[in-house]
Amino acid sequence: SLSPVEQLKRLAAERAAALVKPGMKLGLGTGSTAAHFVDCVGEKVRDGLDVVCVPTSERTRLQAQGWNIKLSTLDETPELDLTVDGADEFDPALRLVKGGGGALLREKIVASSSKRMVVITDASKEVKLLGKFKLPVEADLFGLTATARKIEAAAKATGCAGPIVLRKTADGGRFLTDGGNAIFDCDFGVIPDADGLALALNAIPGVVEHGLFIGLATAVIIADAAGIRVLGD
Ligand code: A5P
Repeated sequence: SLSPVEQLKRLAAERAAALVKPGMKLGLGTGSTAAHFVDCVGEKVRDGLDVVCVPTSERTRLQAQGWNIKLSTLDETPELDLTVDGADEFDPALRLVKGGGGALLREKIVASSSKRMVVITDASKEVKLLGKFKLPVEADLFGLTATARKIEAAAKATGCAGPIVLRKTADGGRFLTDGGNAIFDCDFGVIPDADGLALALNAIPGVVEHGLFIGLATAVIIADAAGIRVLGD
């Protein structure tokens, strides 16, 4: 009873779940696609698979607990074998934009602590150049306006520009991440120099983290009507 796009997400998740071996230490991503992977791991655990998992959000933690998946923290388990996560978009160089769900900071910490990061997605997230999806930038609550100006300058210096909007919750309050920070959604349009923009954002003190994931994904598993395609390995 899954909708067609949910079926594709499930298909990509199943392919990623085939990479899971007994004894592995796994990072669990966040979002509707990653949730299918958590279900796949949960089913395998129910059938006797022994793995230990680090979730990238409170949401994913709750879902994994519902499956009785053995959970750990990055403090107990600082080196993971494989992280499987979704993305808001990806380019042919396996660069990603993430953070639509607000979990980018923990997602990046977990992915960067994994030997492999496999992205699972339907074909709608594929772009030639990043920037179709508004870039999420997580910022400390102190000095948000000053930080927004610096983000603007970083964009300009690397060839893009556009409105920067503080993310709100459904009821109009300020959206806060699991870490208690705000998120700017940056509508820069095409990002011509993603590597340069990532470095420029990293250099801003008020920026906690940004949604450009560069050099982290080792493979992208794409499900579309024709079947599965894999970029990377
Ligand atoms: C969470 O912060 C994001 O990075 C997600 O990976 C992203 O929003 C993808 O979510 P969906 O799988 O629901 O599209």
